Amino acid sequence: MSSHPSQIAAAATSDRLPVTLPRLTEMKRLGEAIVMVTAYDFPSARAAEAAGVDLVLVGDSGAMTVLGYPSTVPVETDELLVLAKAVRRGLRTPFLVGDLPFGSYEVSNEQAVRTALRFVKEAGCDAVKLEGGGATSTARARAVVNAGIPVMGHVGLTPQTATALGGYRAQGRDAAAAARVAAEALALQEAGCFSLVFEAIPSDVAAEIMARVEIPVIGIGAGPATDGQVLVFHDLLGIREGLGARFVKRYANLQDDMVAGVAAYADDVRSRRYPEPQHGYAIDAAELQAFRQHLT
Ligand code: KIV
Repeated sequence: MSSHPSQIAAAATSDRLPVTLPRLTEMKRLGEAIVMVTAYDFPSARAAEAAGVDLVLVGDSGAMTVLGYPSTVPVETDELLVLAKAVRRGLRTPFLVGDLPFGSYEVSNEQAVRTALRFVKEAGCDAVKLEGGGATSTARARAVVNAGIPVMGHVGLTPQTATALGGYRAQGRDAAAAARVAAEALALQEAGCFSLVFEAIPSDVAAEIMARVEIPVIGIGAGPATDGQVLVFHDLLGIREGLGARFVKRYANLQDDMVAGVAAYADDVRSRRYPEPQHGYAIDAAELQAFRQHLT
């Protein structure tokens, strides 16, 4: 009898060692693909753990996927920390990265270090991620690294500053723009980042930059040349309305399943098919009789 993929994954992760920075470096050296996914709560963390992914990101995408904001811009550090703590409780082996929200690190190096420390001390994150590779982001990355916290950089499409980039669109699509993405990636590497995210850049541009980057690079809409891939949990499982970005591959349609499940429940309640006898609790006949007498 063949095993269900979830059983294979659970068996594979039960004796798995926690993923560390040296292990990520080794994976890059050996050419082993690195799997990263976002998570925002205990169940999504348990799914990532059971599936044996390597990196989990409490992305500020949670602003949209679970908190219902129209973009990642409004979310506050305190809100993401609640999500990160729930994810931490559900994880044992993947390396956990917390996303620094917009406005929580740009003002000064001190602000960046203070926010990063909260993700590590209060939520138990192993590292933080911040967006952008310009002078400000690079300085903040360096300051946080110097404070002893591993930093993942993020270049290409950076949703926190999508307005300044002209919207949610691929970056690096002409030579000058591609050169900017490359310079930002190298600057973040030089600042001490342990890893980078490349988001929504042409596959050929990513491949050229890969040849010059020594740290593990995780791609999302950056083609196959990166060391690993990341997708947003709700995108890959279809827990959303609409299709999402071009780079999303959908592995399930849970939103449809959720709607169907709730609709079937509502139907059962309205037609009094639920609850059935097996969903209730029994009381001894004598106790029931005594209770009835008590009521009269
Ligand atoms: O917030 C997020 O989910 C991200 C990933 C897309 C990398 O930044």
